[in-house]
Amino acid sequence: MKIGVIGCGMISDWYFKAARRFKQMDIICCGDLNEKAAAKQGAEYNIPVKSVEDIYTDSEVELILNLTPQQAHYAVSKRALECGKHVYSEKPLCGTMEEAKELMALAKSKNLQIAAAPDTFLGGGPQTVRKLIEDNWIGKVFAGTAMFTSRGPETWPHAAAFYKKGAGPMLDYAPYFITQLVNVLGPAVAVTASVTKGTESRVGGPETVPHIFPVEVPTFQSGIIEFAGGAQITVIASYDVWRGTHPYIELYGTKGSINMHNPNFFGGFVKVFRPGYESWQEVPSAFDYNTDARSIGVADMIEGILTGRKTRVSGELSMHVLEIMISFEKSSKEGRKIMLETTCE
Ligand SMILES: NC(=O)c1ccc[n+]([C@@H]2O[C@H](COP(=O)([O-])OP(=O)(O)OC[C@H]3O[C@@H](n4cnc5c(N)ncnc54)[C@H](O)[C@@H]3O)[C@@H](O)[C@H]2O)c1
Repeated sequence: MKIGVIGCGMISDWYFKAARRFKQMDIICCGDLNEKAAAKQGAEYNIPVKSVEDIYTDSEVELILNLTPQQAHYAVSKRALECGKHVYSEKPLCGTMEEAKELMALAKSKNLQIAAAPDTFLGGGPQTVRKLIEDNWIGKVFAGTAMFTSRGPETWPHAAAFYKKGAGPMLDYAPYFITQLVNVLGPAVAVTASVTKGTESRVGGPETVPHIFPVEVPTFQSGIIEFAGGAQITVIASYDVWRGTHPYIELYGTKGSINMHNPNFFGGFVKVFRPGYESWQEVPSAFDYNTDARSIGVADMIEGILTGRKTRVSGELSMHVLEIMISFEKSSKEGRKIMLETTCE
């Protein structure tokens, strides 16, 4: 399928490189509001550069890959759908449920598909965890933890964007964790949470010239997600912590436990413990795609569009993950458990 890339920043390298692995993907042009960024990536990957407006209206382009910053996702995806293009966006799908519902309705009315990253849950590591659970290695999962504690990307050149509304640890980094939880546990039904922030501003550096930027979102969010299947997962998502030692994801079942790698990656360690074991046992990956496959979700989406089969990375999944993430702040503000409206298969 012919693809136009909008947004030629830091993450675009990963897509331009990984897309070569997937025959479904034919990137025919790229563009960016920053013409220099587009020219650089066009030259590096030998892809024709066009203005952003020309990509939206190019009759050859069938799918737009939206690699713009979080705060631009909604507007870029909306314009792409209005122009009759399928959309695959970087995460999150958008910033609010109102925007998500509007994008989903627009896509449906035009018989188009829209979905958002992450697609790391399709990697060998996350899929091995799913297989272990489906094959009943740890029995029924009743609880677990999903935690990442760091300072976030405060040293990156464009750090400030990651601490603005629409990003932060929940909307920027938790998508990897929450999507993996939904991948292995199925849809969630409720969220109870409390959120705060360590500081009102940050000092960017040392990769950048030290500068102060405001923190607009809660950068320490903790809560419990209840899943329809009965599991309760305790979550911490933070960009405030200098150092922490919590495991990324642990799942506790009636017959054992699973401990897995950071779900931001396609592969890594997967460990199981069952009664009788002396310690955790590492399980080899049961699947392909254990490294650098960012864009496998685009390939999956295209395959679904062309064959009519349900896609694994879908708008339904992206919207459900978004609602789970947004519900942390909502629960904290309103002082109550949030019952979720969305679900996914
Ligand atoms: N950088 C990473 O390592 C990384 C990893 C995973 C996911 N992501 C996600 O990828 C997305 C992009 O992040 P990034 O780090 O590449 O950001 P970036 O700022 O490096 O690149 C984004 C590019 O989009 C362009 N842009 C902004 N608004 C636009 C618009 N309306 N139309 C066209 N172009 C526009 C900017 O000029 C910029 O060149 C974000 O959603 C981020 O969460 C980034």
